[in-house]
Amino acid sequence: MKKDTLLKLIRFALPYKKRFIVALISMIIVGALTSALAYLVKPGINKAFIEKDKRFLIVISISVIVIAFIRGIFSYIQNYLMVWIGQRVIMDLRNKLYEHLQTLSLGYFITHRTGKLISHLTNDMMYIQNAVTYVPAHLIRDGTTAIFLTGVIFYLNWKLALLSIIVFPLLAYPLRKFSRKMRRRSYRAQEEMANIYNLLNEKITGIKIVKAFSQEEREIDLMRDANKRFFSSVMKLLKTAILQRPVMEFFTYTGASLVLLIGGLAIIEGEMDVGSLFSFLAALNLLYAPLKNFANVNQEIQQAISAGERIFGVLETEAYVKDVENPIEFKEFKNEIVYENVSFSYALEKIDKDSFNIDSVEHDLKNINIRIKKGEMVALVGPSGGGKTTIVHLLLRFYDPVKGRILIDGIDIRNFSLKSLRRSIGFVSQDIILFNDTVKNNIKYGKPNASDEEVVNASKVAFADEFIRKLPYGYDTYIGERGVKLSGGERQRIAIARAILINPPILILDEATASLDAESERIVQEALDRVLIGRTAIVIAHRLSTVRKADKIYVIDKGMVVEEGKHSELLEKGGLYRRLYELQFKD
Ligand SMILES: Nc1ncnc2c1ncn2[C@@H]1O[C@H](COP(=O)(O)OP(=O)(O)OP(=O)(O)O)[C@@H](O)[C@H]1O
Ligand SMILES: [Mg+2]
Repeated sequence: MKKDTLLKLIRFALPYKKRFIVALISMIIVGALTSALAYLVKPGINKAFIEKDKRFLIVISISVIVIAFIRGIFSYIQNYLMVWIGQRVIMDLRNKLYEHLQTLSLGYFITHRTGKLISHLTNDMMYIQNAVTYVPAHLIRDGTTAIFLTGVIFYLNWKLALLSIIVFPLLAYPLRKFSRKMRRRSYRAQEEMANIYNLLNEKITGIKIVKAFSQEEREIDLMRDANKRFFSSVMKLLKTAILQRPVMEFFTYTGASLVLLIGGLAIIEGEMDVGSLFSFLAALNLLYAPLKNFANVNQEIQQAISAGERIFGVLETEAYVKDVENPIEFKEFKNEIVYENVSFSYALEKIDKDSFNIDSVEHDLKNINIRIKKGEMVALVGPSGGGKTTIVHLLLRFYDPVKGRILIDGIDIRNFSLKSLRRSIGFVSQDIILFNDTVKNNIKYGKPNASDEEVVNASKVAFADEFIRKLPYGYDTYIGERGVKLSGGERQRIAIARAILINPPILILDEATASLDAESERIVQEALDRVLIGRTAIVIAHRLSTVRKADKIYVIDKGMVVEEGKHSELLEKGGLYRRLYELQFKD
């Protein structure tokens, strides 16, 4: 899994391999020049202090300046390119992730918390960007530096060189241990961060309820807890991460002091010159620096892997509701919509369907049979939680039935392309969702290139034109978080205008249960009357005036169709409909 994740991340960097190669060459040049600088210490010291050769000393000093300057240029090029690639990979990955989220089925969003998804798009990306930007530089630049410097120290004195690097193989084992620990701990810390995002998202969106029920203090405590958990998990991670450095440093100092001891003895014995030892120590010092950096590299890699695992986890989730191969375009609605023995269960959305016996769970819809002829208005009524909304969601293919099928003009809707099917259905949901944008843009959401005239016409039909014109900026007034708040009935009428602007042959209206006052109700009702002309509609009705007009009423209770017929027939029957009528539909 871990190698996999790395490979997948590398695949995202592949399109930028040309830049990467330039960066790579720059890194190697930087590494070589760093080594050259260390090597120059030897002639520098020998000429200056031992041979007292002024001219040569000046030449060496100037060489150092020139080399340092060139090294700086390549270092800049390398850094710039790597930062660029890092940001670019993140941009691609984030786009890809968002694109993929848009294709996932509604069921996915029921089971995965929004905040968590947001944290994948923000926090997790940051770890990956860090790794992409710095890891290659550390590995390659520091790696080549290390190789060249090793060459330098072996050239200067191979016995000392052996002595000074003999400590490193001993480090391999603890480093491995550290890596595994860090990856696990990094995963935990990122999960806790996701939790914070989730809490923020949920409670700031729902701030109205938090305040209305005076639960600010509890929310503060919840956040404190989440923060505390993040703190402990991140401290656990950092405890391991920062332990690497002293361990590495201890080994390097041990190596250096051994060199000093043996090299010093060699000078006293006259077997080595001072310049060589200084040069050797300078090289060793430069050599240890990249080796110490490997500790950071390791941390960056482990964090990126655990972030990558989470991101690829989403990217590799397949949409449950998706187009079949060679889907049919839904062109024209000719005849009828039929629900044929349809059963559905939300519980099945949350588990692996292949390994589960679908009959062992209680279904939320059981054996639903409904028939809607072209031009009809069919009403679904029944007690709350009966399954009315679920029934219409299936027509939009938010979910697919676990048993049975839904046919339009004799074709299973699973065979239509999702786009063409949904484009033919106007949908007014029970919870009206409007975006933070102008009234106009909200109305033409389903058809962004609609003309102003179309917007006004749809609004007129939905009985919304009049109140929209009275808003401070008319159709250009912002609604939602950034602007004017609308009443329930007004929101509903905007949603109706939005649904009919795409001029769908089929209309689904899931009336809000919240009762409007008599006046708004009359207006919404009039809007409905106009909207329904010439369309086929499924209306989830809570108003007597609506059900009275319905061509057919289906009474839904406990996931089943318990009664069906016209208003008068159902009244006569004296069943559930009659009881509902007496309780609920009285107006
Ligand atoms: N996303 C979901 N996950 C799990 N169960 C759900 C989900 N949505 C609805 N249910 C369950 O499915 C059943 C039917 O719900 P549905 O929303 O279809 O009822 P409804 O008839 O529209 O009710 P209301 O009149 O109150 O709107 C209920 O028992 C409900 O708890
Ligand atoms: Mg409902």
